Amino acid sequence: MDEHELPPVIAIDGPSGTGKGTIAQLLATELGWHLLDSGALYRIVGIAALQSGIDAADPQGLCSLARTMRVEFSTLFPGSITLDGKEISAQVRLEESGAMASRIAAIPELRAALLQRQHDFRQPPGLVADGRDMGTVVFPDALCKFFLTASPETRAQRRYKQLKDKEVNVSLPALLRDIQARDERDTTRAVSPLKPAKGALIIDTGPLAIEQVMAIVRQELVSYQDSRKESRQLFFSDKH
Ligand code: C5P
Repeated sequence: MDEHELPPVIAIDGPSGTGKGTIAQLLATELGWHLLDSGALYRIVGIAALQSGIDAADPQGLCSLARTMRVEFSTLFPGSITLDGKEISAQVRLEESGAMASRIAAIPELRAALLQRQHDFRQPPGLVADGRDMGTVVFPDALCKFFLTASPETRAQRRYKQLKDKEVNVSLPALLRDIQARDERDTTRAVSPLKPAKGALIIDTGPLAIEQVMAIVRQELVSYQDSRKESRQLFFSDKH
């Protein structure tokens, strides 16, 4: 397929706890586009490695899992994920799975092995891709790029509240330490470090409610659409 015919991508990157998963999900639903939660892919490789006794320091074993594991993201029930036919959504969202994902995500061979899987999500009419390197590495030709930030303290508070609401017992200082450790690993790794893509709109979500972030994102998409001066509406019809 000619590169110019590839379905459009909107890239949403940033550290965890900035609300990017929620924004990506809402936007994909609003546009009727596909959704890629790339962090979930790294989490799932970690879970698959644990289940099959593959060491987190064995790049070849991890790559082979990344290429062969059967993963399904339900479009009917957002958030529902199966690995080789078994429901693993709850396990995917555990703090341990995130910490394991962040460790194995620093392995260059694994990142390369997951590239094709991520590109496969690029289907018509378009894709909203959420992660750390969507705008920099995986979809550098994304039409619009966003980078969401918030202080580690704000993100730890948000996560604390989410877990408390689910009646999971956690300590706020431990969550903050975990977030800081993950940020350090994600931003300093040699391959695809977490950083804003060139031209990305940076949004500090700290003082904003989800709907306010969505309003900024919509506004940016409308400005981009208007700047193309095409009759075809890329994102929204005239109601926006
Ligand atoms: O976004 P989420 O918290 O699910 O990501 C888990 C971990 O996976 C991150 O801490 C990061 O190390 C890694 N990741 C990545 N590249 C992505 C998405 C996630 O390295 N595109």
